[in-house]
Amino acid sequence: MRSVAKLSELPEATPVRIDVDGVPVCMVRSGDRVRAVHDTCSHQQWSLSDDGMVWGNGIECSLHGSTFDLDTGKPASLPATDPVPTFAVEVDGDDVSIDVTTTTNGAPFPEH
Ligand code: FES
Repeated sequence: MRSVAKLSELPEATPVRIDVDGVPVCMVRSGDRVRAVHDTCSHQQWSLSDDGMVWGNGIECSLHGSTFDLDTGKPASLPATDPVPTFAVEVDGDDVSIDVTTTTNGAPFPEH
C-alpha cells in the first residue's frame, strides 16, 4: 500500500488520475469510499479520467462511451469487452492508500 492522496482533497464523483509507481490510476471518491481502477480503457487505451463521467457505480470512457463497473472493472457496455484492472484501496482517516502491485479482479495490465 502506498499513501497517495488526502480524502478531503478528492472531489466527489469525479475521476482523478494519479501515477502510482509508474501505474496510471483513476481514483473515484464516493463519500468516504474511494475506488481505484487502471486509468487505461481496455478498448483503445484512452484515459478513463480524461473527461470520464462517473454515474451510478460506473465510469464512462469519454472516447467511445464504454462504461466500467468501479468495483469489478467489468465493462457494462460496448465497445469495450475486457475488464480494466481494479486495485485495493484503504482509507484511514484522511489518508488514502492504494496497492498497485496486484489487481483485485485478476484483469491483466494493459500491454503498452
Ligand atoms: S477507448 Fe474507451 S471506449 Fe473506446
